[in-house]
Amino acid sequence: MDYSIKLLENWGALDTDCLIAGFYHKRKLGTSAAQLDEKLSGLLSRILKRDSVEGKIGDTLLINHLPDEQIQRILLVGLGKKEELNRTSYRKLLGEAIHALKASHAKQAVSTLHEIDVPDACISWKIRQTIEIFEAGNYRFDQLKTTPENTSPENRLSKIRLLVSGIKDEAAAAKGIKQGEAIAAGMKLAKDLSNLPGNICTPAYLAEQAQKVGKGHKKLKVKILDEADIEQLGMGSFLSVSRGSRQPPRLIVMEYYGAADKTGPHVLIGKGLTFDAGGISIKPSANMDEMKYDMCGGASVIGALAVAAELELPLNVIGLVPSSENLPDGNANKPGDIVTSLSGLTIEILNTDAEGRLLLCDVLTYAKRYEPAAVIDVATLTGACIVALGRHPSGIMGNDDDLCRQLTEAGEHACDRVWRLPIWEEYQEQLKSNFADLANIGGPDGGTITAGRFLSNFAKEFKWAHVDIAGTAWKTGKEKGATGRPVPLLSQYLIDQVE
Ligand code: BES
Ligand code: MN
Ligand code: ZN
Repeated sequence: MDYSIKLLENWGALDTDCLIAGFYHKRKLGTSAAQLDEKLSGLLSRILKRDSVEGKIGDTLLINHLPDEQIQRILLVGLGKKEELNRTSYRKLLGEAIHALKASHAKQAVSTLHEIDVPDACISWKIRQTIEIFEAGNYRFDQLKTTPENTSPENRLSKIRLLVSGIKDEAAAAKGIKQGEAIAAGMKLAKDLSNLPGNICTPAYLAEQAQKVGKGHKKLKVKILDEADIEQLGMGSFLSVSRGSRQPPRLIVMEYYGAADKTGPHVLIGKGLTFDAGGISIKPSANMDEMKYDMCGGASVIGALAVAAELELPLNVIGLVPSSENLPDGNANKPGDIVTSLSGLTIEILNTDAEGRLLLCDVLTYAKRYEPAAVIDVATLTGACIVALGRHPSGIMGNDDDLCRQLTEAGEHACDRVWRLPIWEEYQEQLKSNFADLANIGGPDGGTITAGRFLSNFAKEFKWAHVDIAGTAWKTGKEKGATGRPVPLLSQYLIDQVE
């Protein structure tokens, strides 16, 4: 959809398919709704009363016909009690608004919802959220259906104008639009890649898509390392996983140099398992299809690089996405196999389903060559993370308190939250092997933590954080689909490095 600013001169001069405005609990109209009501001689108040719509958070009422046809429809959105409105409920009401707007048949609309007072939210934040949530509400993945459910292009909702009343708001709104559009596009890219099935989105396909993203931005260079390159480098741990599948692996390297010189990049690493059947330690069959989402970390890193390039952030960002399948095969890892990682550390593979860390450890070692300011890896790493934290926050671990704090704050601001878990030295005990330097699993206790602790052994020389997105990268059940997380988190972290 297309978003732009509309400066309000007077209500009489405004024409639109649908005007979106808020009203509070007990039918108390918000600023714009009150002004319209006056212009319409109390019509809105009368209809709300007639239909006894209370104004609970997310209530919607579409007034589908109006006497003067310049404003063809009005969509009233419930804001709840003024004192209870917060950032979470604001996002919820935006979700209801786009749902009702889509059903209204309007092709374009004017929104005033960013005029609502929300604690700790400025106008650019509110506009950014509007765009992110409207885009998510309008998202469909139907490219693989023979008859897409989409309405024809000419009948589709395609244009949103955001009404502002003064020059001061205009500048803040413009910033919100710019960031909102870039982040929403990064999320859409990540979702589209993630929702594709494993037979289409293979490591080679993912690499091609990253290259395509690179072609769209002058300062973004994309290199693809193939199996021979990965072998040449000495990534024995990564390679041991990809050898168990017929699809050759890729290491996607995206380099965005936006700063004056090439120093101190922020390195983002994303797990890119295009399918994880578990290998010889095969997974149970229930919901195994969802393991096509085991590349969501990689997709979100590709998305975040696209955001950095789109916003032309004046900093250096490197994206590294190791991509492979994890399948059972004659050439697959066997429990008990010992491999040598790029760092030189040997790893006893006690469970072939703990494969993500076997890719990530080699790429963490590889990241050192960039002399990074910080390294952040994102991965659908452990089912245990869902047990520990549920599906609202991602888990975060790391070796630097300041970096973990920055990410926590970025997550709060971007509404893509993380919650920290410890990876203390004491946990190292669980990773001891009788035969190698490290075991790749740490037993039944604290599975998310021992995975993070495992990775920390390869991240000793730089500031590092690990984000476990097992519970947040996609939705399971009836609404199955990728969420585009943690693109907002990563984007906000990068934006914060500049501002
Ligand atoms: N990709 C999975 C983790 C996962 C499972 C994420 C389910 C989301 C939902 C990962 O490769 C894996 O299989 N991890 C194992 C680790 C275990 C063998 C120590 C797990 O979580 O069971
Ligand atoms: Mn696995
Ligand atoms: Zn996996």
